[in-house]
Amino acid sequence: MRALIVYESLFGNTEAIARAVAAGLTDEYEVTVAEVGETPSVAGVDLLVVGAPTHAFGLSRAATRQDAVRQGSTRAATTGLREYLDAVEGVRAGLACVAFDTRVGRPFSGSAARKADRRLRRLGARPACPPESFLVTGTAGPLVEGEQKRAESWAAHLAAGLAPASGRAA
Ligand SMILES: Cc1cc2nc3c(=O)[nH]c(=O)nc-3n(C[C@H](O)[C@H](O)[C@H](O)COP(=O)(O)O)c2cc1C
Repeated sequence: MRALIVYESLFGNTEAIARAVAAGLTDEYEVTVAEVGETPSVAGVDLLVVGAPTHAFGLSRAATRQDAVRQGSTRAATTGLREYLDAVEGVRAGLACVAFDTRVGRPFSGSAARKADRRLRRLGARPACPPESFLVTGTAGPLVEGEQKRAESWAAHLAAGLAPASGRAA
């Protein structure tokens, strides 16, 4: 089975979570991790995982990405998950999907993952679990201690739950 993880990351924190999620999926999936600007194809994918930083309570826009650069990001991102999901083709009805985000831990901080989850459902994909957030200590990070481990174990549980029973170790 194949899993595709598509991530957007201005400061590297969402990328670190994406790589931890990949590590958690590898027992059950052949995993590809791709930056959103690579516009990876979903053809032949059994599980689509998307991850993005929360910007202005939701998915980034060109203006918020420029803001990130003003705040020290060295990644001049010209596109984001919002644009990827607007343009992606070939999402088949019922494709298993999951969305995650990173965000600061304050209350009412919004969630890019919730917005991505809604877009995935509109495309006909089927969320395998509710959207999940991982916390950073500030705009540039770093991640709150333990979040990478939590992401790996979250993904491993997800993979085990989705795997056909015959594919599991006894
Ligand atoms: C322009 C901008 C807007 C942001 N807005 C929010 C927000 O509404 N809620 C939140 O929790 N974090 C917000 N943040 C913090 C980001 O979520 C944080 O920078 C991100 O999780 C870091 O991930 P990355 O290293 O992958 O870019 C914002 C950051 C930037 C640069």
